[in-house]
Amino acid sequence: MNEFSPSKILKSLPTQFFATLVSKVEKVKAEGHDVINLGQGNPDQPTPPHIVKALQEAAEKPVNHKYSPFRGFPYLKEAIADFYKREFGVSVDPNKEVAVLFGGKAGLVEIPQCILDPGDVVLVPDPGYPDYWSGIALAQANMKMMPLKEENRFLPDFNALSPDVSEKAKLMFLNYPNNPTGATANVEFFHDTVTFAKQHNICVVHDFAYGAIGFEGKKPVSFLQAEGAKDVGIEIYTLSKTYNMAGWRVAFAIGNRSIIEHINLIQDHLYVSLFGAVQEAACAALLQSQDCVDKLVSMYESRRNTFINGLQEIGWDVDAPQGSFFAWLKVPYGYTSESFADLLLTKAHVAVAPGIGFGNNGEGFVRVGLLTSEERLKEAVERISKLELFSSSHKC
Ligand SMILES: Cc1ncc(COP(=O)(O)O)c(C=O)c1O
Repeated sequence: MNEFSPSKILKSLPTQFFATLVSKVEKVKAEGHDVINLGQGNPDQPTPPHIVKALQEAAEKPVNHKYSPFRGFPYLKEAIADFYKREFGVSVDPNKEVAVLFGGKAGLVEIPQCILDPGDVVLVPDPGYPDYWSGIALAQANMKMMPLKEENRFLPDFNALSPDVSEKAKLMFLNYPNNPTGATANVEFFHDTVTFAKQHNICVVHDFAYGAIGFEGKKPVSFLQAEGAKDVGIEIYTLSKTYNMAGWRVAFAIGNRSIIEHINLIQDHLYVSLFGAVQEAACAALLQSQDCVDKLVSMYESRRNTFINGLQEIGWDVDAPQGSFFAWLKVPYGYTSESFADLLLTKAHVAVAPGIGFGNNGEGFVRVGLLTSEERLKEAVERISKLELFSSSHKC
């Protein structure tokens, strides 16, 4: 059999750091240990039944057995526009300012191909969601990191960027509520972002994957709520987290019409559109009762409180996240993010994601996904408390 070598571009893709984590977890499990896996970001709850039912009914309709219209059914784009008006008070033209996506990840990887040429500069949050890097590598563009520092509440400081970088940058990724830090942004920050983007002619892509998950009654802010946001950018909203639909692959881009047109154009070449029944089910999710979302957010908040309070009680100096379903925990003195994650996995059988996997500024932290029951989270705290580090007088 011939062995065909991958293209240069394929070889330039970043290594999948989290594949290593998965194999480490599998190894410990294979040794017979019961691992509490808090290392990944896969929602643990099922899709609400009314959405599943909408899919089942729609799957029986012959219209959905054909190719769907290239850019998605108009009813879905209208539902998206209604959802944004209802949830965020933002008005958009469903025909020109909405693009249907095969999950947020697909959109995030497509955008660099749409507007960048080889060598162009992209501003990327560090730490940040690693899939931004993949699209940038495929476009042969260059990343410039925007450090997210604890002292700035994990928001980038645009003034700290070198004038040369700001001038060259064509695209910027942002993400609040933030993966991995759990930080949130307010509308003032987005106003400053719009001002900076206008000044330097930068396209802003706000990844709003955790747009429904804000704690203590604080609803996350949409980038499009900032005046002028549509002039400079778009937002990517996925149904994966809000409605536990990660396996369904449905999301959308919303905002600046030139970017929306470019996304639609590249997708005309790559795909037809989503299975019509998924489009009908997405409408049911966006337009029917949102009680399931309220319940989900309360559940994450309760898990957050249980876990963070538990860790504070055993002497670990940690802060509670403001949104998303992640907690971002400073590692104890003397450890790197990777050596501490290894210690938790091998000695406590608790898997967490080392911060370095999200960028150099993730060093010194681990990310915990609150994606298991409160009982299991309590048990994780219990196991961690038994580590010598926490059980002796040597508290961190
Ligand atoms: C920050 C962030 N953006 C985007 C995504 C992608 O979501 P999906 O492709 O399921 O829409 C995720 C998923 O984990 C995420 O954490």
